[in-house]
Amino acid sequence: MTLSQTDGTRRWDDNAECWHRSFGERDPNRRDLLDPIILEVLGDIKGKQILDAGCGDGYLSRKLARRGASVTGVEISSKMLAFAAEEEKREPLAIEYHCASCSSLPFLSSSSFDATVTNNVIQDMDDYHGAFTEFSRLLKPGGIYLHIMNHPCFMTPVWGWVKDDQGKKLYRKVDHYFQRGPFLCPWGPSSGMQPTVYWHRTLADIVNRLISCGFVIKRIMEPEAPECWKTEHPGRMDSARIPDFLILVCEKMAGR
Ligand SMILES: C[S@@+](CC[C@H](N)C(=O)[O-])C[C@H]1O[C@@H](n2cnc3c(N)ncnc32)[C@H](O)[C@@H]1O
Repeated sequence: MTLSQTDGTRRWDDNAECWHRSFGERDPNRRDLLDPIILEVLGDIKGKQILDAGCGDGYLSRKLARRGASVTGVEISSKMLAFAAEEEKREPLAIEYHCASCSSLPFLSSSSFDATVTNNVIQDMDDYHGAFTEFSRLLKPGGIYLHIMNHPCFMTPVWGWVKDDQGKKLYRKVDHYFQRGPFLCPWGPSSGMQPTVYWHRTLADIVNRLISCGFVIKRIMEPEAPECWKTEHPGRMDSARIPDFLILVCEKMAGR
């Protein structure tokens, strides 16, 4: 049975409560790896129009709005969006939320955003070409598309740590890199998350799609585990031997 976007969305609906509870401010990946990069890349966002595409429960939308940006969040899972709406009621930040797929955003005006961010979204969606096309249309010339994803070279349809008899991680296996398409991706048992649908594409697929949609890649990042994890999260250090995330900073070319 082939997994579809509908399956993916249903699984995010089912995981919404767990995600909202577990992946907030205290999540080390957000706090120590991704948030500092997002804020550094976007720079001074006061008064800027920002699209948080695949905004989930609105975690990043709120962070950016608190820094003075005018934020629009788009999310396909109504359950995830319900948490965003609840938070907006508790702390009004004038964030505009829409329940929609990033691959079809006709209700948003062309050339109206200074920056778009997808924080671990594209691997969770089917039509990534449609999404890149929309982001290119929506960005002003020179606008930034910040694309954060699970690293496609190390998270493939067959991946995982090979361990010795004592459970020590020996090395990470990676296979079927060229097998594009959806697969069910398990989460760590302590997360409480049920498997989600993950769409694998090669690094070349992603980069070439971005280029064909009118983006120039300005910077590539593979965040490394910070020193503090050695004492604060020693259990994470094993996994920190391989980058979990790939970050592409893309600029929309003028004239596209
Ligand atoms: C790993 S979560 C990340 C959520 C959010 N960006 C964050 O940082 O918390 C992936 C999100 O992508 C959403 N998603 C999947 N396919 C989508 C699509 N086609 N359009 C919009 N959102 C989508 C899922 O529903 C889920 O909320």
